[in-house]
Amino acid sequence: MCGIVGYVGQRRATPVLLEGLRRLEYRGYDSAGIALAGSPVQVHRSVGRVADLRGVVPEGLTPKTGIAHTRWATHGGVTLENAHPHVAGGGKLALVHNGIIENASVLRASLRAEGVVFESETDTEVLAHLIAKCLEGEGDPLAAVTAALQLVRGTWGIAVIFSALPDTIIAARNGSPLVLGLGEGETFLASDPHALVPYTRRVVYLQDGDVARIQSSGIETTTLDGAPRSRVVETLEAEWAEAEKGDYPNFMLKEIHEQPAALRRCLSGRVVVQEGRANLGGLELSSRELNAFRRVGLIGCGTAHYACRVGAMAIEQLARVPATAEVASEFRHRNPVIDPKSLYFAVSQSGETADTLGALKEVQIKGGHVMGVVNVVGSSIARQCGNGVYIHSGPEMAVASTKAFSNMIASLYLFTLQLARARTLAPYEGRDFAQGLMDVPDLVEGFLAKKLDVARVVEWLSECRSVLFMGRGLSEAVAAEGALKLMELTYIPCLAYASGEMKHGPIALLEEGSVVIVVAPDDEVRDKTLSNLQECRARGARVVLIHTEGDPIAEEADFAIAVPKTSRWFTPFLTVLPLQLLAYETALAMGRDIDRPRNLAKSVTVE
Ligand code: M6R
Repeated sequence: MCGIVGYVGQRRATPVLLEGLRRLEYRGYDSAGIALAGSPVQVHRSVGRVADLRGVVPEGLTPKTGIAHTRWATHGGVTLENAHPHVAGGGKLALVHNGIIENASVLRASLRAEGVVFESETDTEVLAHLIAKCLEGEGDPLAAVTAALQLVRGTWGIAVIFSALPDTIIAARNGSPLVLGLGEGETFLASDPHALVPYTRRVVYLQDGDVARIQSSGIETTTLDGAPRSRVVETLEAEWAEAEKGDYPNFMLKEIHEQPAALRRCLSGRVVVQEGRANLGGLELSSRELNAFRRVGLIGCGTAHYACRVGAMAIEQLARVPATAEVASEFRHRNPVIDPKSLYFAVSQSGETADTLGALKEVQIKGGHVMGVVNVVGSSIARQCGNGVYIHSGPEMAVASTKAFSNMIASLYLFTLQLARARTLAPYEGRDFAQGLMDVPDLVEGFLAKKLDVARVVEWLSECRSVLFMGRGLSEAVAAEGALKLMELTYIPCLAYASGEMKHGPIALLEEGSVVIVVAPDDEVRDKTLSNLQECRARGARVVLIHTEGDPIAEEADFAIAVPKTSRWFTPFLTVLPLQLLAYETALAMGRDIDRPRNLAKSVTVE
């Protein structure tokens, strides 16, 4: 989603800002721009990629202070006028903004009545003019920003430069992340630490309600009421340095192949196989407390939600605690009953997904107990929860989530083991589960090491009007994840159904040549899925089957892909791999943008 970069220091700001924007490209955007200190402030914007912006920014610009933005359209279409930064006060200030100003239309009307002329349709321009108005009254830029923010409702991560203050950026946060990077005689600002990695590891995460004065000599943070607020300087984790493509053609392929290493990192130090138990220190829960929970609720969006569905099945069946997986955007708005004796998990790769954050706050407001299962350390969800589990996938840059899915399941399985052993699971059962989990990275590595030739399936899929995915039990969630991957990367409509539901509707879609992707590892529901597979073939569909190595079920398919044998709980780690690769290869063959599919953003920070 939208990205912010800012710089104030001794270097020329433009190259730092453009490189920062390039590093945030993975988040998804449709226009970009920079503003540089001066009188008036100067702004350069373009629709399209950061490379297009480079083309319109003049060479050799000397200002040493500036802000920059990549915009993912929400209020208003993808136009040059709507691109940030927005200027107000006749060039006295320029503003970049992530988030949404909810009362923008009312404020726009009253500013218009006072004679303000708007150039864009954006809520951000409203805030820019509001700050300019406050500046007329207050005189001081920081006071003007805080006064304007008192008048708006909504979410923001903002950075503002003023013609009167060439060595200063004013930033503020409420619901949209901002992180400051501290260098020697220079200070950086970004919506995502990835933009800071080349310059510094010393960072300060702004919190909701913070306002910061950012100068080359350092930073000062206050509340919106002007009260001083000290913030700790943290060190950016080494994992952020991994976030370059290396020898891979794109991030998605790199991230698929990183799964064994990412899984090892997630499991490392958290499993005691001999005792058949796991220990997630970040939860800070004793066995007594684990025993007291009556239910577990897992909340997430998209891929995270599918990982939650796998996790919920494991928790319920192994720990014998009722568990549900919920779509965060539904959960937060349905006025859920929160049982204080339940434990909730907010599951998110980015840790910034607005719906998941909203849902967890709803749990907290109602007195519930919620923890994070998050990848990005220090992200909003991780901070809001306080306690939780980091999944340690390392930076995931491709919009299509892959390694985070595996690590979310691994993390939820670690919790399952900890919970189940504290309740009903016998040591020998715990040992089997722990050993099975520890074996997963090698199995994943073994599968990924072999070349998967799916050219024939790619040809079928590229010509499909729609694709059906099906599976049962754990494989139903995997099928849903496979459908999401293929759909978001190729734009082919994909439906995922529980195999048993096919005959209640979706089977009507099938005709000669339709493609059905069936996930049927050798588990206790395999035979049931086999019947559904046969029903599809009988209606002329071509069946692509993901199955366990050596299983004769392969003969029932038009195209069969074998994955290594493992016990049922660990099949999702393996059956998802061919689905990720099929989506990848098909998108490649169709000439799609692999890392940045259209209309999508990596972290969805709006509702
Ligand atoms: O960062 P999160 O895990 O909270 O993101 C949730 C979804 O937006 C995300 O999984 C999305 O569905 C991906 N594009 C799926 O590949």
